[in-house]
Amino acid sequence: MLIAPSLLSADFGHLAADVEMLNDSDADWFHLDVMDGVFVPNISFGFPVMEAIARVARKPLDVHLMIEHPEKFTARVAALGARVMNVHQEACIHLHRVVTGIREAGMLAGVTLNPATPISTLEDIVTEVDLVMLMSVNPGYGGQSFIESSVEKVARLKELLLRRGSRALIEVDGGVNRETGARLAQAGADILVAGSSVFRAPDPQKEIKALKKLSEIDRII
Ligand code: DX5
Ligand code: ZN
Repeated sequence: MLIAPSLLSADFGHLAADVEMLNDSDADWFHLDVMDGVFVPNISFGFPVMEAIARVARKPLDVHLMIEHPEKFTARVAALGARVMNVHQEACIHLHRVVTGIREAGMLAGVTLNPATPISTLEDIVTEVDLVMLMSVNPGYGGQSFIESSVEKVARLKELLLRRGSRALIEVDGGVNRETGARLAQAGADILVAGSSVFRAPDPQKEIKALKKLSEIDRII
């Protein structure tokens, strides 16, 4: 399993220390949650903070844009050196254009779905994306409870990807811990985002190791 700890649950007063802790852990990616107070009812952080993280991070950045018009920022996310740019399907009227732009900028293109958005909305784009991320909470806050139907949604997404011959990876974000993570792994998830379960654990590095063991990833990213 690939593990992408979410810095939303880090201690922003000691961000460098938390980044170093993740550098020295088994985490695979740094998951960075950008919120605009419009697409979601909260504001998190933006480019100055992400640039500070990028300077010290020694693992790829997975940028999750919970904002309207994410395409306005494709070039700036690429300039951060991000590996993945995740945009919401609900925020992109011209999703195909946005995804193409992300790939042309040299990043992996991720498309994210809110809990109420059906996977069928991706039917005609799954062969063009590198990753699909399912929200297993309503985006906007860390520490929310896992929406149970997400497990079965992962299984249905896996089916869609197989049927369409897509090699897109499946990422899941929200309420992930060892228990929900085990079920998501079984349903076919490749990447788990974890905020509070990692940062509130007595030993975050041990928690990351436990999540990582939930499955063997069969592909190198
Ligand atoms: C929620 C964010 C998540 C969040 C997950 O809007 O997209 O990445 O940090 O936090 P937990 O793991 O605490 O649900
Ligand atoms: Zn996120």
